[in-house]
Amino acid sequence: MNELFNRVSVRDFMPDRVENDKIERILDAGMHAPSARNQQPWEFIVVDDKQYLEALSKISAYAWPASRAPMAIVVLGNRDYMTNPVMWEQDLSACTENMLLCATSLGLGSVWLGVAPIRERMNAVTDIFDLTENLMPFSIVAIGYPTEGKHAHRTDRYRPERIHHNGY
Ligand SMILES: Cc1cc2nc3c(=O)[nH]c(=O)nc-3n(C[C@H](O)[C@H](O)[C@H](O)COP(=O)(O)O)c2cc1C
Repeated sequence: MNELFNRVSVRDFMPDRVENDKIERILDAGMHAPSARNQQPWEFIVVDDKQYLEALSKISAYAWPASRAPMAIVVLGNRDYMTNPVMWEQDLSACTENMLLCATSLGLGSVWLGVAPIRERMNAVTDIFDLTENLMPFSIVAIGYPTEGKHAHRTDRYRPERIHHNGY
C-alpha cells in the first residue's frame, strides 16, 4: 500500500531507458484492474520512439511530459472487447491507476496524461497511430526514472469532513 500513498505525478525524467521487465510488469498491473463484467477492454501501445513521443506531447496543452519521458504507454479501449460499453471509461481508469501504482513500486516516475473523453485529443492520438475506428484512445502514461528533487511531495489529503456515515 505504500506506493498508493507515495505516488505523485512526475513530469521530468532522466534519459535512461526503462527495462523491458519493468514495462511488462506495468502492463501486467494494468491488465489486472477490475472491469465491468470483467470485459477487460484494454489494449496498449508501448512508445519509445522519440518522434511519436513528441507527437503525443502535442495532443493537448498539458501533454508536454510525453516529450520529456523516455517512454509512454498509450491506453486504448477496444470496442470489440466491450460487453458493457457504457463502463469502458471506468475500466480504463482503474487500469491506468494500476499502472501508475506499479510504476511507483518499481522506483519509476509516471504521470497520467488525459485523453478521453475529450474528442480532439482522442482524434489526435487516432491520427498519430492511424488507429481503426474500434480503438478508442483513453489515456497516456508517461514513464521514466524521475530527475532529482523537482517533483511534488506527498501531501496529506485526508479530509475527515468529507466522510459521512449512514447518510449525508
Ligand atoms: C483524468 C486525469 C487526467 C490528467 N491529465 C493530465 C495531463 O494532461 N497532464 C498532466 O501533466 N497531468 C495530468 N494529470 C495528473 C494530475 O494533474 C495530477 O494527478 C494531480 O495534479 C494530482 O497530483 P498527483 O498526481 O501528484 O497526486 C491527470 C490526472 C488525471 C486523473
